[in-house]
Amino acid sequence: MVKDAAMNESVIPPKNIVLIGFMGSGKSTVGRELHHRLGYPLVDMDQVIEQRAGKSIAAIFAEDGEEVFRGIEKNLLEELNDPTAPRRIISTGGGVVGDEQNRKLLRHLGYVVWLNAPIQVILDRTSRNRDRPLLHTADPAARIEALMEIRKPFYQDTAHLKVETSGLDCGELATGILESARYFFTHQL
Ligand code: S3P
Repeated sequence: MVKDAAMNESVIPPKNIVLIGFMGSGKSTVGRELHHRLGYPLVDMDQVIEQRAGKSIAAIFAEDGEEVFRGIEKNLLEELNDPTAPRRIISTGGGVVGDEQNRKLLRHLGYVVWLNAPIQVILDRTSRNRDRPLLHTADPAARIEALMEIRKPFYQDTAHLKVETSGLDCGELATGILESARYFFTHQL
């Protein structure tokens, strides 16, 4: 459960930069670039989950199932809602927006940036390795399209900013995100 007191509007909202978006949209790469530019700690949620579990995301899906993974993901997100923590860059897994409570919490955590890319670009990037269990199917392109269809409205509703990533390098993306984030945090009540 999200602790209401920690999301109370009278409390100064956290000023993290939160990256959301589909698998292969560049969250980890852009997250690392923002971390280097700002010096804020980077929390790559999938990496934290793998470190704690002592196994890969693919192994968690295979041995424990997706539901267990989603529970771990949700608990980690709630843990990140810590008002005493320093500002951070938070890079999320592509499916975190599937849960309504997660979506609320993501927006509460700071400035939410949706990194988007065309289906073909996502397919090219994700086909380079086998670490995305949801794409271990006979027709990954169809799976990407189906998941994107379901998730698009969630990304849209959760994000403060949508960024089309294809054609831009991570330096250019980071510069744009930082400018928008500065404006957002300066004008935030
Ligand atoms: C998932 C995306 C993955 C990882 C898991 C599930 C998803 O993260 O959390 O495989 O449901 O889209 P990335 O978006 O970093 O690949």
